[in-house]
Amino acid sequence: MSIKLAVLFGGQSHEHPVSLMSVTSVLNNLDKKYDIYMVGITASGCWYHYSGPVSDIENGDWEKHPDNTEIILSTNPEHHGFYEIENNKYVYVHVILPILHGRNGEDGTIQGLCQLANIPCVSCDLTSSAMAMDKEFTHLIAESYGVPMAKYVALHRRDYHNPDELYDRLVKMLGLPFYVKPSKEGSSFGAHKISNHEDFVKGFDDAFKYDDKILAEEFISGTEVGCGIMGDDTVGEVFEIVVETEMYGYAEKYDGYKTNIYVPTKNLSKEQEEEVKRLSKVVYKALGCDVLGRADFFASDRIIFNEINLIPGFTSHSLYPASFKGAGMDYTTLLNNLIDIALKRGTNE
Ligand SMILES: Nc1ncnc2c1ncn2[C@@H]1O[C@H](COP(=O)(O)OP(=O)(O)O)[C@@H](O)[C@H]1O
Ligand SMILES: [Mg+2]
Repeated sequence: MSIKLAVLFGGQSHEHPVSLMSVTSVLNNLDKKYDIYMVGITASGCWYHYSGPVSDIENGDWEKHPDNTEIILSTNPEHHGFYEIENNKYVYVHVILPILHGRNGEDGTIQGLCQLANIPCVSCDLTSSAMAMDKEFTHLIAESYGVPMAKYVALHRRDYHNPDELYDRLVKMLGLPFYVKPSKEGSSFGAHKISNHEDFVKGFDDAFKYDDKILAEEFISGTEVGCGIMGDDTVGEVFEIVVETEMYGYAEKYDGYKTNIYVPTKNLSKEQEEEVKRLSKVVYKALGCDVLGRADFFASDRIIFNEINLIPGFTSHSLYPASFKGAGMDYTTLLNNLIDIALKRGTNE
C-alpha cells in the first residue's frame, strides 16, 4: 500500500505566496510512490482538498477550482485524517507535510494540531516550532548555549511611547546603523536597516505592523551563510549568499534579484564552514528540533548566529534544498528522507 501523504500549502500568513512557490517545487519533485492528498489553505483560513493541476497553485488560481472540497483535520486520532464536509467522508492519511511558512504554519500551530490528531508531521514539534518562530526566544536560548549573536533588545508595543528617547537609547546601545525586525515574521517582512532618525520612525512603524514585539539589533556586516539540518543532527553543506543590494530582502529571496548563492561557500575557510555546521547543530538541538531546519548566520570577523527557520523555503532555488544538494542529496531524495524521519518519529513526543 502506498503512503498517503497530505501536502499542506497556502495558509494564514504573510508568507502565503511564498508557500505557493515552495509547494509547487515540492509537488513537482515528490517521489511518484506517494499517494498525494493536496490541502490548500486560503489566506482567511479555509481548508480545501484540492485536486486540480499543480500549475494553478502558484498564481492562486487553485482557489477557484470547481472540485475544491472544504475539509477539516479531525482531532479524533481514530480518523487519522481529514473530514470532507460535502462528501460526509473521512480520508485517512499516514503523514502530513506542511509547506507553510511563518505564522499559523511554521510556529507550532499546525504541529500542535497534528499532535492532537496523532498524525506524524514532517516538521519539528510544537515547542521547538514556537520557539524558533519568535526571534527573541530563539536568541535567549541560543545565548544560553554560548552561541555568538548580535547585541539586541526586544521591544514591546506597549513600551513604545517616546520614540525620540528610545532612538537615542538604541543608538547608544547598538550604534548606527542598527536593524529592526518583527520578532515573529519571515521573508524579511518588516525588517529595516536604520541609519538615522527618519529611518527609525518609518522602520519601527513598519516592523510593528507585523508583530507586537520587535527586535532592535546591532548591524552586522558580512555575507549571509548557513546550512540545512535534518533528523537528529545531519547537516548539509554550508551555503553563502552574496547580494549586490543592501539586504537579503523579499526580491532577493524569491526573484533571485541580484543574488548569487554558493554551495560550498565562496569566501569562508574550511574552519569557518565547520564553525557554521557546529553552531547550527547547537541551536537546532538546543531548541529541541528533530526533523528539519535551516540555521542562518552572518560571516564577519567571526560567525554570528542570526535565526533558524523550521519550515525553510523549498523553491527550486531555495537554500535548504541547495544545502543538501551540495552534500550530494537530490531534491526528491531529500523529501523522501524527511518524510521517513517524520514517520519514524511518529507522534510520541
Ligand atoms: N543584525 C542584522 N545586521 C545586518 N543585517 C540584518 C540583521 N538582521 C537582519 N538583517 C537582514 O535582514 C534580513 C531578514 O532578517 P531575518 O532576521 O533573517 O528575518 P526573516 O525571518 O524575515 O528572514 C536578513 O537576511 C539580513 O539581510
Ligand atoms: Mg532570515
